[in-house]
Amino acid sequence: MIKKIGVLTSGGDSPGMNATIRAVVRSGIYFGLEVYGIHDGYLGLVEGNIEPMTRNSVREIINRGGTILGSARLKSFKEYDVRKKAVDQLTKHGIEGLVVIGGDGTYRGALELTRMGILCVGLPGTIDNDIASTDYTIGFDTAVNTAVEAVDRLRDTSSSHQRCTIVEVMGRHCGDIAVTTAIATGAEMVITEETGFDLPKVLNEIRQAKKNNKRHALIIISENITDVHALARLVEEYSGFETRATVLGHIQRGGNPSVFDRVLASRLGIAAVELLMEGKGGRCVGIVDDEIKDSPLEDAFTKKESKIAKQIRVTEVLL
Ligand code: F6P
Repeated sequence: MIKKIGVLTSGGDSPGMNATIRAVVRSGIYFGLEVYGIHDGYLGLVEGNIEPMTRNSVREIINRGGTILGSARLKSFKEYDVRKKAVDQLTKHGIEGLVVIGGDGTYRGALELTRMGILCVGLPGTIDNDIASTDYTIGFDTAVNTAVEAVDRLRDTSSSHQRCTIVEVMGRHCGDIAVTTAIATGAEMVITEETGFDLPKVLNEIRQAKKNNKRHALIIISENITDVHALARLVEEYSGFETRATVLGHIQRGGNPSVFDRVLASRLGIAAVELLMEGKGGRCVGIVDDEIKDSPLEDAFTKKESKIAKQIRVTEVLL
């Protein structure tokens, strides 16, 4: 049976990462393990920025956004020599199992470490909801609530001034934040990689909305689709709606995690530690049809059949 495990957070931070760290540390200690916190993701692992954690190290963090361990994106972790240093640090500290909390890039690092003989379990900590092996990632629910609150405010001013408002949300290449936000705010239109971007259609629909005497129009668009400020100029020219674009940006990554994210983080954290205790590595844990399930790390990279972004019917009928 293993005795020492480590935990790290990596990639873009997400609300609920702290609740996940807390769950890993407290369940590890509950099961009689020594738990080590690794700072700043894989960078801290390579540099040996590692310290023992106690129940007290994670007190009063379940409600806090960000990550007390810090996070980083370490491009050079793709190189074998860099990863070898990480493996050496784990050996030096006697750490036999690792819980990594993060998104796509974090999981890829964990897969490489697994291939080098390290017992690794991945937990989905990202606002993007783009991990295939789970219905929801930790942080997505909070990010969407933040986006909805911001869009509600933008709607007030948009309506007062009879404007078209374009709001760009995050998600990298996944439309879940955009589609969920659009449904929840009653937007006129949502544009994501899944819906496709048909500029003439967008311009015609907004022009039609103006002709139909709509007081204002709201477009939610995923990042990495187009320059929203240039789009705003085109919409204004073509539709007659005065138009403004807002990029919500990193505001979506901060803030106190929602109840959903805190509970999800707590359930997944315990499951990860249990897997390590069973000697099972190369796995990731997620929530599928409301059940906590583990699967091979590779499953996280298969093309995500986004359940939410595919709710095009809801958007077609209601938006
Ligand atoms: O993966 C989380 C995320 O916030 C994405 O939605 C976004 O594309 C990216 O990270 C931004 O990364 P950075 O914080 O490095 O600018």
